Amino acid sequence: MMLNNTHSGLSRRHFLQGIGAGAMGITISDPLAAAARLLSSQDMPTPNPERRMGGNENPIGPSPKAIEAVAAQLSGLNWYPYQPDLEMAIHRFHGIDVQTSEGIGWAGLNTTFIQDSRVVTGVGSTEVLRAAAWAYLMEGGHIIQGRPSYNEISDSARKLGNRVSVSAVELKPDLAYDLEAMHHAIRPDTRIISLCNPNNPTGLLLGHEELGAFIDAIDPRILIVIDEAYIHFVEDTSYKDATLFARTRPNVLITRTFSKGYGIAGLRVGYGIAHPEVIKKLRGYTLGPLGMHSNSIAGAVAALDDHDHLERSRRAVVEGRTYLGRALLKMQMEPVSGQGNFVLVDTGRDSMEIFNQLLKRNILITPGARWNMPAYIRISIGLPDDNEAIVAALQEG
Ligand SMILES: Cc1ncc(COP(=O)(O)O)c(C=O)c1O
Repeated sequence: MMLNNTHSGLSRRHFLQGIGAGAMGITISDPLAAAARLLSSQDMPTPNPERRMGGNENPIGPSPKAIEAVAAQLSGLNWYPYQPDLEMAIHRFHGIDVQTSEGIGWAGLNTTFIQDSRVVTGVGSTEVLRAAAWAYLMEGGHIIQGRPSYNEISDSARKLGNRVSVSAVELKPDLAYDLEAMHHAIRPDTRIISLCNPNNPTGLLLGHEELGAFIDAIDPRILIVIDEAYIHFVEDTSYKDATLFARTRPNVLITRTFSKGYGIAGLRVGYGIAHPEVIKKLRGYTLGPLGMHSNSIAGAVAALDDHDHLERSRRAVVEGRTYLGRALLKMQMEPVSGQGNFVLVDTGRDSMEIFNQLLKRNILITPGARWNMPAYIRISIGLPDDNEAIVAALQEG
């Protein structure tokens, strides 16, 4: 059996070369040398020898700038983290102006205070989605979402007990969101409408105009959450920056993650953008400054600036998606023409059987049973070698 031991997208040798090349222009600090030594150790476990095509992670590996930044601050792990750096970097990245002031903060530290922040960070976007659910549903209420879609908001809200109810509105036969039916599902106690764009597991994208018209027709007391975890892989040229909605409306929360495009799922960083009042409300339910690891802050700040890596990730995904789409069609299977780093496909067979067959070949995918779509599987885009392996395995039947 062939094991894919370069699954991080970088072989150990290339990885070290990458670190060396990246570090050339800067001072090679001791922590960086220590990290390089650690990575060259024969004892280092090989991460993920399986072909992981079930979790929608980044196939090419983490942003090298993030690796460097993490390595460079390892010797400071004795200190508590300093979070304003990340929040400031996200504001800057999105071109959002904020007022700041300098002052003495926690433990006597000189601290940047951001006034009316429009950004909340979290341990992955999962923490931000959970905070939204808890902030808006603690007293009970109703959520509207699509089915199938990503369920973090409703799953988190259900933990609050039976004072929460959920309307999961079926997607249309073409698997697009049924916005009209979602609108009709609104009740006096509706607190959140949750959308995922592009949607997981379909990968289909709601257009900007359609989304804008939907938002404007909703009572502004209802929070509209738009989860853009996969936005970096969208090719549709009509896509316009949805953070505009979060900046111009009082009730729109856009969530983004560093886990997909930037390739640092292991560092667990995500964020939300919304009106300052929404941000304040969510902060009451996040772990706040002590929730985020110093490595995560350093890695995410550096990744935001790593345009080359993002572009390489995007290209690898688009090429893989195109390759898989064509190959699946040739096998008489019907892929959904989605825009995420995954392909949902109607195999015309029992997806659990396919799942088990692939598992025997060390290939992990997600069977559609999870979404009550028993003939579908969702394949996360891998490296070319992974994509070819899964096609060969599916051809063998
Ligand atoms: C649509 C969607 N939102 C959010 C997440 C969670 O991402 P994070 O790693 O930022 O917690 C995922 C993870 O797969 C996802 O598919």
